[in-house]
Amino acid sequence: MEVSEGIEKFIRPDLATFTGYSASTSPETLAGKVDIPLKKIIKLNANENPYGCSPKVRRALASCRHFNIYPDDGQQELRKRLATYAGVAPEHIVAANGSNTLIDMIVRLFVQPGDEVITCIPTFDIYRFSTELCGGKVVNVLRGDDFAVDVRAVKSAITNRTKLIFLATPNNPTGNIIPRQDIIEILETGIPTVIDEAYYEFSQETMVPYKSHYRNLMVLRTFSKWAGLAGLRVGYGIFPPRIASCLMAIKIPHNVSVAAEIAVRASLADLYYLLSQVKAVIEERQRLYNELLKIPYLKPYPSRANFIYATVTQGSAFDLHQKLQQKGILVRYFDKPLLRNGIRISVGKPEHTKALIKVLKQLSP
Ligand SMILES: Cc1ncc(COP(=O)(O)O)c(C=O)c1O
Repeated sequence: MEVSEGIEKFIRPDLATFTGYSASTSPETLAGKVDIPLKKIIKLNANENPYGCSPKVRRALASCRHFNIYPDDGQQELRKRLATYAGVAPEHIVAANGSNTLIDMIVRLFVQPGDEVITCIPTFDIYRFSTELCGGKVVNVLRGDDFAVDVRAVKSAITNRTKLIFLATPNNPTGNIIPRQDIIEILETGIPTVIDEAYYEFSQETMVPYKSHYRNLMVLRTFSKWAGLAGLRVGYGIFPPRIASCLMAIKIPHNVSVAAEIAVRASLADLYYLLSQVKAVIEERQRLYNELLKIPYLKPYPSRANFIYATVTQGSAFDLHQKLQQKGILVRYFDKPLLRNGIRISVGKPEHTKALIKVLKQLSP
């Protein structure tokens, strides 16, 4: 008998058939499947920064001599630096290896089995993922026209088991922001509310100034998008100090690597460079949007992030995404009921827009 036989009965029954998060395709998985060398693949499927990180990050990492030492578990210096950048005091800040991890920590802190978490779909799927991992129930509130959050429906979805509300602004994958007044109306309910500002540097819209007024407000940010550090994994949140200290207590020790800490320090010392890349992406976003408008079978939506969502008005979004992949261009397709007729395209460099538009024109039905 194999020793592993019978292991099944030890796995948590609620997780044995768990629907994981489907992450974007990485170029490596295409090796042998497409006729294009991996180096030539244009990756517009994960909202990464096409310009890469600051050169100061590369230099600082190359000269680091203490990768053998654990990072400071209390994140003292890191919290101070992030606090200065966010314009708050350090006791509001908690950092983690990506804002996904912070989403997971927040859900662990608030949600017990059977508790409810409100999300406004279509939106970022990690809110569902982490809630279900904790045995919580996701209460999906449908967005309205142009993917606007239906504030009235959010308020009426609240029950005595509601523990959290997640709002992404700009929203992933639709790119639209939530008007400030709508967020305030939701905050007024008193339910702990996470405002996910992963794309803040592209939208310049933030709820951080309201942190003292609303003790139920938590804001999440990341270095993955604007600072080009997706691969090094750094995110942070701005929390009421009581919540920040609970999160510091439940976090896995040393959850931000020495390399990531160094990268944050070097990035924050090179803001002028990084924000000029952000500006280039914003300009390219407008150009890409204008070009997509000219493609007869696509309906692009205006975006405040570093990507554009477009519905496919003729033909299938899945087929389009596959055909683009065959041509070496990766865009995001979501196999989810509300998103099945759309694709999300990250804003790349001008040459990426040119290559994409050329192929989209060729593929016209
Ligand atoms: C809305 C939103 N929140 C959080 C994240 C996660 O970012 P990180 O790389 O910091 O985990 C993403 C990444 O795509 C996102 O779109």
